[in-house]
Amino acid sequence: MKHKIIDGREVAGRLRARVAKEIATLAEEDIKPCLATILVGDDSASHVYVRNKITACGKVGIRSEHYNLPNSVSEKELLRLIDKLNEDEGIDGILVQLPLPNQIAAHAVIDLIDPQKDVDGFHLINAGKLMRGNAELVPCTALGCLILLRQTFSDLSGKRALIIGRSNIVGRPLSLLLLHENCTVIMAHSRTVNIEEECRRADIVVAATGVPKLVKGGWLNSDAVVLDVGISRVETDAGMVLMGDVEFQKAIEHVKAISPVPGGVGPMTIACLLYNTLVAACRRRGLTVPDKTLDL
Ligand code: GUN
Repeated sequence: MKHKIIDGREVAGRLRARVAKEIATLAEEDIKPCLATILVGDDSASHVYVRNKITACGKVGIRSEHYNLPNSVSEKELLRLIDKLNEDEGIDGILVQLPLPNQIAAHAVIDLIDPQKDVDGFHLINAGKLMRGNAELVPCTALGCLILLRQTFSDLSGKRALIIGRSNIVGRPLSLLLLHENCTVIMAHSRTVNIEEECRRADIVVAATGVPKLVKGGWLNSDAVVLDVGISRVETDAGMVLMGDVEFQKAIEHVKAISPVPGGVGPMTIACLLYNTLVAACRRRGLTVPDKTLDL
């Protein structure tokens, strides 16, 4: 498996097809799952992400309801909207796109979402369940990374997994998922003293920092499998380009497999959101959750 590119688009396509099939089965029972998306402010990247999520919902038959709130919206107003969506029987999932403006405490918003509708898996209860090893709704990007790694390794047990970045969205939840797979998990972050040395020793490197080209190709060993979660817009001589956290062109010469940016982890995040919306819709109705193993 030399110089293998991990094709997130292809794996995500398979997951979306599974979700679409299950949604079609629910439709026969007149069940039509619906995701509510909330976007505050006018951050252009967030607008693109949310638009992509809504489009993806439509393609698998998940309905969506979108709420666009001004940057000046108060925390109270946002909490009122969450209350309303929690009460709405027709809504299965609630997604508040992050980051939020400074006047709003993200934790207050996330923890008001009904945990059963928390398709991001960020609520305290869902975070606690993930820690205990009985998660129901798992943060989408972390779940997407796990699925890609399961596609690459027949057994993750005993692998030395370096996760660079300790965010609640990716690094922390992924550390727990990989611990449950019996990986030896090493967390690196902005205060880690020698990331290069940690990279050299790792079987798995997941870079999720948002710092373009932080991980140099020469730091990685020839058996390493690398997931690049970062996606930054960088102005270059060739114009604006999307750049990951890993020096892709150099890394691919060294490693066993690597996910590109774009076309790697990004499509998995969206496919996992669709999957989580399906899971939420089933659980709320007491139906069996399809495909819990996510063995694609
Ligand atoms: N901002 C960046 N990633 C995410 C995500 O997975 N969910 C939400 N809600 N906001 C994000």
